[in-house]
Amino acid sequence: MVITGASAGIGEALARELHKQGARLVLGARRLDKLEDLSLSMGKAHVCVPCDVSKPEDCQRLIQAAIDSFGRIDTLVCNAGFGIGRLSAQTTPDEVRSLFDTNLLGTTECVRHAAVVMKGQERAHGFRGQVMIVSSAAARRGLPMLGVYSATKAAQLVYAEALRVELAPSHIAVTTVHPVGTKTDFGTVAKQQGQAFDVPGRSLFQQTAQQVAGKMTRAIRYPVRECWPFWPIRYALVLNAAFPSLGDWVMARQFREIRRKLG
Ligand SMILES: NC(=O)c1ccc[n+]([C@@H]2O[C@H](COP(=O)([O-])OP(=O)(O)OC[C@H]3O[C@@H](n4cnc5c(N)ncnc54)[C@H](OP(=O)(O)O)[C@@H]3O)[C@@H](O)[C@H]2O)c1
Repeated sequence: MVITGASAGIGEALARELHKQGARLVLGARRLDKLEDLSLSMGKAHVCVPCDVSKPEDCQRLIQAAIDSFGRIDTLVCNAGFGIGRLSAQTTPDEVRSLFDTNLLGTTECVRHAAVVMKGQERAHGFRGQVMIVSSAAARRGLPMLGVYSATKAAQLVYAEALRVELAPSHIAVTTVHPVGTKTDFGTVAKQQGQAFDVPGRSLFQQTAQQVAGKMTRAIRYPVRECWPFWPIRYALVLNAAFPSLGDWVMARQFREIRRKLG
């Protein structure tokens, strides 16, 4: 199994969970030292590949490393990603490009190389392989101050919907994952990118990376189309789709809270 963004947060928690279940892993991220520490803590049993998914050649190298090491890929988890909190209308072209380069292009490039490999594999448990894409609950409702980030997550979702139908005849499963706020380094990284506030209201239904990884592990064992680690939000988002004014009302409260914090 290949996991991008395995050096921290959800990716690291997933790696630990899958290791416990006996999986052989290829771990990708930019910080090789973190990956090697992680692999060491799991008995040095896994392959670590320095990889910046915003660079197409790195995505290809990651997939090649998996083939060179294990000869097949059962599951590719496109998890690497980040966000920057900004007023949507003030997000600069460089910020927009960098968000899409990592969150969307990093996904499409890994999938492009992995799909070729998976199509040539023998079936195991009914599937030749599985593509799992870590999107977000924000894929179905743009969050104020995270407009462009939300757009990258929506883009991952609609890309996966098309991909799922295209890869079904080849017996390759496609699963999207839609976490709500999760306790990881996500907020710290956003602040390093210049974000000046904490996203409020997260503690209401914030989850741990281990909780999300547990649900993802189940969706790897029994592939589903969409994995919602905090399932009630899925139904709240159905309401949002039917009544966007209701969604706007909830989001406007969150936006007011951010503005109050910013002063
Ligand atoms: N935390 C949340 O509230 C939340 C909610 C919904 C969805 N998500 C999604 O969950 C995924 C994981 O986020 P997280 O919360 O676990 O954040 P995190 O703790 O900051 O971890 C992000 C991971 O992605 C890697 N990464 C970032 N940019 C990369 C790049 N260009 N190339 C390769 N790896 C890269 C980081 O590794 P390096 O820095 O070492 O490269 C790190 O391993 C993201 O796609 C995020 O959008 C998070």
